[in-house]
Amino acid sequence: MLAVGILWDKLLKTENQLAIQKQVSLPFNPNKTISFQDDFIVVNKDGQTKVFSSHCTHLGCNINKTEGDKLICPCHGSAFNTDGNAIKGPAVRPLDSKSFSIDKATSQITVEV
Ligand code: FES
Repeated sequence: MLAVGILWDKLLKTENQLAIQKQVSLPFNPNKTISFQDDFIVVNKDGQTKVFSSHCTHLGCNINKTEGDKLICPCHGSAFNTDGNAIKGPAVRPLDSKSFSIDKATSQITVEV
C-alpha cells in the first residue's frame, strides 16, 4: 500500500510540473491588429494586446478569418468582436481568453495553454 501511495504522489507531482510547462511561444507583431497563430488569435487594439483560443465556442472549429475587425468562424458563421465576445450566432459564449506575457526584446509572446 505504501508503494501505491508513493507512486500516486510521484504521478501528481509529474502532472503539476507538466501543467506549469504548458506554454507556447509565438512571434509577436504589435503592428498587426489581428493575427492567427497556431491555436490562438492575437489582437492588438487601442494599445492593448489580447490573446484568445482560436477554437470557436459553438462546436470548436478553428477560427481563421476576419471580416473587417470581426473574427469569423468558417463552420457555421459565428462572429466575434476583438474583445472575444460573440456578436453573431450560433455561438453565444465569448472566446476563451488566454494568459500571456510579451518579451519585447525578442518579439515573442508566450501563451499559457
Ligand atoms: S463551430 Fe463555429 S459557428 Fe459552429
